[in-house]
Amino acid sequence: MTTILASISSKDLRRFGKPLVFSLMLLPAVWLTWNWWLAFGYQPNGLGFNPQETSNRFTGDWTLRFLLLSLAVTPFSKLIGSSKPLLFRRMIGLFAFFYVSLHIASYVWLDMLFDWVELWADVLKRIYITVGFTAFLLLVPLAVTSTGGWVKRLGAKRWQRLHKLVYAIGILGVIHFIMMRKGFQIEPLIYAGILAALLAFRVQKHLQKKRRVST
Ligand code: HEM
Repeated sequence: MTTILASISSKDLRRFGKPLVFSLMLLPAVWLTWNWWLAFGYQPNGLGFNPQETSNRFTGDWTLRFLLLSLAVTPFSKLIGSSKPLLFRRMIGLFAFFYVSLHIASYVWLDMLFDWVELWADVLKRIYITVGFTAFLLLVPLAVTSTGGWVKRLGAKRWQRLHKLVYAIGILGVIHFIMMRKGFQIEPLIYAGILAALLAFRVQKHLQKKRRVST
C-alpha cells in the first residue's frame, strides 16, 4: 500500500483518486435509490419485506462506517508514514454527514410520515434515538466548518479542537447502535472494538506528544 501510494503523485490523487473514491462512496446511495425505484414499480428488489426498516438500517450502517473510516485516516496515514491519505479525510467525513441525512430522511419520512409532534415525542422517549439525534446535532457544525475558509476563520488550533468532536460523535453513534439492537449482538460490538482501537491510538499519540514537550 505504501509503495502504491508513494508512486502516485498528490496531483494525480486529487485528479483521479478523489473522483474514484467519491464514486465508490456514492454506491450505497445508488443501490438504495435503485431498489426504491424498483419497489415503487412493484418489481422484485433488494429491500425485503420491510423496506422502511431496511432503509433505516442500511443508511445507519453506512453513516457509522464512514464515520469510523474518517477517524481511521490519520492513524493510517501515520502508520504508513505518508500524508497522502489525509487528502480524502474531508470527503469521507462529508459522506458520513450525507448518509446520516439520508438516515434521518428515512426515519422522518418512512417511519414518522412527517408527523413532527409524534417525531419529537419519539426522540425524547426512546433514549437510543435521543443519543443518535445528539450525535447528528454535533455533526452539523463539523460539516459546516469543513471548508478551508472556515479553517482560516476559526484559526487552525480552534478548528482542530472543534473537529475533535468527531470522537464524541463516534462514541454516541456506537452507543446508539448498541442500544437500538438490545441484548448481546456481535455486530455493534465489532464497531465498538474498532472505535476503541482508534481512540487508543489517539490517546497514545497525545501522551507521546505531551512527553516530548515536557522533556
Ligand atoms: C451520527 C449519527 C447516527 C449514527 C452513526 C447512526 C447509526 C445507526 C445504526 C448503525 C443503526 C442500526 C443499523 C442496523 O441495525 O444495522 C441505526 C438505527 C436507527 N437509527 Fe440511527 N444513527 C445516527 C443518528 C440517528 C438519528 C439522528 C436518528 C433519528 C432522529 C436515528 C434513528 C434511528 C432509528 C429509528 C434506527 C432503527 C432503525 C430500525 O430498526 O428500523 N439515528 N442508526
